[in-house]
Amino acid sequence: MSLALSLGRRGMGRTAPNPAVGCVVVKDGRIVGRGWTQPGGRPHAEPVALGQAGDAARGATAYVTLEPCAHHGQTPPCANALVDAGISRVVIATQDSDARVDGAGIAILRKAGVDVTMGICEAKAQADHVGFFLRTEQGRPFVTLKLASSFDGRIATGTGESQWITGPLARRQVHALRARHDAVMVGGGTARHDDPSLTVRGFGDVQQPARVVVSRRLDLPLLSTLARTAKDIPVIVCHGRDADPVLQDTWRDLGATLLPCGTSGSQLDPHDILQQLGGHGFTRVFCEGGGALSASLIEADLVDELVGFTAGIVIGAEGLPNIGALGVETLAAAQRYALKSVSPVGEDICHTWTRV
Ligand SMILES: NC(=O)c1ccc[n+]([C@@H]2O[C@H](COP(=O)([O-])OP(=O)(O)OC[C@H]3O[C@@H](n4cnc5c(N)ncnc54)[C@H](OP(=O)(O)O)[C@@H]3O)[C@@H](O)[C@H]2O)c1
Repeated sequence: MSLALSLGRRGMGRTAPNPAVGCVVVKDGRIVGRGWTQPGGRPHAEPVALGQAGDAARGATAYVTLEPCAHHGQTPPCANALVDAGISRVVIATQDSDARVDGAGIAILRKAGVDVTMGICEAKAQADHVGFFLRTEQGRPFVTLKLASSFDGRIATGTGESQWITGPLARRQVHALRARHDAVMVGGGTARHDDPSLTVRGFGDVQQPARVVVSRRLDLPLLSTLARTAKDIPVIVCHGRDADPVLQDTWRDLGATLLPCGTSGSQLDPHDILQQLGGHGFTRVFCEGGGALSASLIEADLVDELVGFTAGIVIGAEGLPNIGALGVETLAAAQRYALKSVSPVGEDICHTWTRV
């Protein structure tokens, strides 16, 4: 199952709205088939592994990181494919909460006389599929918030200089993290100030995540990198329903997809931003700031994982804080996250925290 989990992770960021599943087929102690969900979400992991196994699948055990599907979508149900291939035992890490499956895949297997074992490496599988589960159950994607900052939590000097606070290895790791998400998101302030491309670079010809910009009035530079490349790599603009219709048409003509969102006060409602992104099919979103958008997501308790890259540089109180005002008055009212991992990355450290 550990191997199936690591195979499944190869698909992360490339399979939405489908989950990134891994499957290993074992016969007489030998691996005869390995598969993972292919880019775009199809074929699923099981038919890929069964195809490799061929006749050796008869009487074999299949290890799958998520309950095999039971519904006729664009492909026939994987539970039936396992039965038809003659698999005698299926080991499943965790059940699928999608209403179209939710135990029905297990029922198909058991009814056909297949021995089913549940819950092997379940916590790891649930962590890997959390974005898929959140979208299925709450309609929103999993949100990772990444911030690269100085030792004292600043993302720029008082004059706005921010490149580069962290070193090349940390920046490379950010690109690897982008590749494991369906979309990379920034606020309008960052889009206006930094002219980012938000692409994955340095890893060859990889499938690029979509780029998401959040801007209520759509007052984003029309000659920006995002605007110029929107026809090549998807750009999604979350905007207010009151945004200028001419600007909406302009961004559509540039190739962007527009997602109208509700408002909360003077800003876009962070809950609705994520519901719209979930509705668009995203299961994992990587937010890279800036401070205002990060604050609004944290305040709404919508950040599932924090990834910090901290450099050994001290900028001081005049610098730009990595998270904007939250209105927190007591420690009890502040969001707390549990430490997941810490590792040195070149001259910097990377620390990951999950929602408590
Ligand atoms: N070192 C780093 O890791 C890093 C990363 C990112 C950014 N930065 C720096 O951070 C600065 C930009 O940060 P920022 O805080 O000014 O801007 P931001 O968070 O990138 O964007 C804020 C803007 O997003 C739009 N918005 C819409 N709905 C929102 C909501 N619910 N909550 C918050 N914003 C919403 C608003 O613009 P509209 O008026 O268009 O609606 C708002 O002004 C830049 O200087 C950039 O260089 C550094």
